[in-house]
Amino acid sequence: MLARSRFMLVLMVGALLAVLSFSLQYLHLIPTNPVAEQRSLGKSRKRVNPVLHTDAPAPDPIRDTHKYCNYPNLTEHGWEGHSPADYRLLSVHVMIRHGDRFPLYSIPKTKKPAIDCLLSEKRNPSHPLLASFISHMALSGRGHWDTSLVSLPRLPNHSTCEMGELTQTGVVQHLKNGDHLRQAYIKRHNLLTADWSPQQLWVETTGKSRTLQSGLAFLFGFLPHFDWSRLTVRQQWSTLFCGSSCDCPARNRYLEQEQRRQYRQRTADTELEHTYVTMAKTLGVATKTLRAANPVDALLCHFCHGLSFPCSSTQTTSNAPDEDACLKIQHFAVIRRQQKNDELERLEAGIYRQYAVLAAHPYLNRTATRMERIARGSQTRKGKEEAVFALASAHDVSMAPLLSALGLEGAGFPKFAARLAFELWKSPEVKDKDRKSDRKEGKWLENMFIRVLYNGEDLTFETAFCRDHNRHSAQPLCPLGNFLSFVRKDMFNIVNATSYQQACHQTVL
Ligand SMILES: *[C@@H]1O[C@H](CO)[C@@H](O)[C@H](O)[C@H]1NC(C)=O
Ligand SMILES: *[C@@H]1O[C@H](CO)[C@@H](O)[C@H](O)[C@H]1NC(C)=O
Ligand SMILES: *[C@@H]1O[C@H](CO)[C@@H](O)[C@H](O)[C@H]1NC(C)=O
Ligand SMILES: *[C@@H]1O[C@H](CO)[C@@H](O)[C@H](O)[C@H]1NC(C)=O
Repeated sequence: MLARSRFMLVLMVGALLAVLSFSLQYLHLIPTNPVAEQRSLGKSRKRVNPVLHTDAPAPDPIRDTHKYCNYPNLTEHGWEGHSPADYRLLSVHVMIRHGDRFPLYSIPKTKKPAIDCLLSEKRNPSHPLLASFISHMALSGRGHWDTSLVSLPRLPNHSTCEMGELTQTGVVQHLKNGDHLRQAYIKRHNLLTADWSPQQLWVETTGKSRTLQSGLAFLFGFLPHFDWSRLTVRQQWSTLFCGSSCDCPARNRYLEQEQRRQYRQRTADTELEHTYVTMAKTLGVATKTLRAANPVDALLCHFCHGLSFPCSSTQTTSNAPDEDACLKIQHFAVIRRQQKNDELERLEAGIYRQYAVLAAHPYLNRTATRMERIARGSQTRKGKEEAVFALASAHDVSMAPLLSALGLEGAGFPKFAARLAFELWKSPEVKDKDRKSDRKEGKWLENMFIRVLYNGEDLTFETAFCRDHNRHSAQPLCPLGNFLSFVRKDMFNIVNATSYQQACHQTVL
């Protein structure tokens, strides 16, 4: 039943990935590409829970990790900005995950990865806009900033990266994202014209330098040499972008339940436990200490930067360290494999989805409200005061709940510099002279449509609110009304509620 189609299977694999990251403290690391996973039907390896997915594919944890890295040497492709002829693009709402970063944790008794966080267009990976981006950031004093953001550096600027610092790779990833969406939205659809007003652009970020800098790099690719005086950058205090609606006791209880499930899953994985013991011995530290250092975070950074895995620094090595004193790709593969198993089990348990609905609602609600205002305003042509482009520069723990709440778990865990876009479209007017009689309530909604794209892939018809829409019907796009009623009511079905207030304050078993 679970694997009733390959698509479902793919969905499930991805969902687990999506779920893996609710706590910034823990993992940060799971990529997947549903299409590739579908092809990679290696026979299943040992599963922690034999009841689940006994004949599910075993994705190759190493190959999947390459996708997570999101190497910026590939051309960016995507279906953003594509629509039937004559449809008009009214607004776009994008959430990005920050780009490649230095680890948040270091592995005890090892050297940190040697990565230079000073930007230089002479170093790879580079980008044609990198040099002008660097000089443009020097003028950031002309922009408007929430006061809490003023002290953050506008660029990575350390010859040895600091913990969590955005790398040059991360900057380039977002220059590319911005440039790609400039082609899709500005060149093709004039979403923002050269004289865009300050109200038309909404930019918000969490208070970390890596999200702030990622947002600025994206923006520079999107609007090269933008006029600082028209830009306001706002801070969101929560990684959930929940603004003034963050209070939600039930959400925290779902998260705690999920964390307990995860803990049980992890400690039941004997291969994983054995691997930690081996790694700890290799480095000469206590197993507990090693586990607490979340070694996979640092190993991912070595992996994505093509650096060899770290060796014990207590060795009195001159040059070549003893192989036996080094961490190995096999260790890394076991941890990654366990993370995937955990994702599968997480999807099956369903607790994360309940958490995700409550975590994602405030952001989705704000997006829905903006879209509705713009859609109504388009009848009376008041475009200049509305935020037709909104950017939220965020974390994996921001984006994963959004994907889960939308029913897009199969889209995969957010890789570095992942992007999620909501587009609002208006279909051609049928007849203009009946406009007066069209004014009745609800009429404005009839020719409004939404598209949802993740890393350039159009997933609109896989969302929970448009899965049942027949795309060969008279309406080739998904009606905005589906999204509005999903956000305002239907999304709470899975927590047996009809509103955010009710869902947040009810008892969780
Ligand atoms: C892109 O870079 C990665 C990592 O440096 C490398 O493994 C891969 O082969 C490169 N791909 C292309 C198409 O150059
Ligand atoms: C980077 O840091 C150096 C040394 O602290 C400083 O001189 C330089 O102005 C900084 N550059 C930027 C763009 O912040
Ligand atoms: C959702 O948006 C509406 C405005 O459309 C607002 O009145 C309401 O308070 C918002 N709810 C939450 C929970 O953010
Ligand atoms: C919702 O209600 C159903 C039926 O009463 C129950 O089985 C389910 O556990 C409830 N779900 C939640 C999240 O409370």
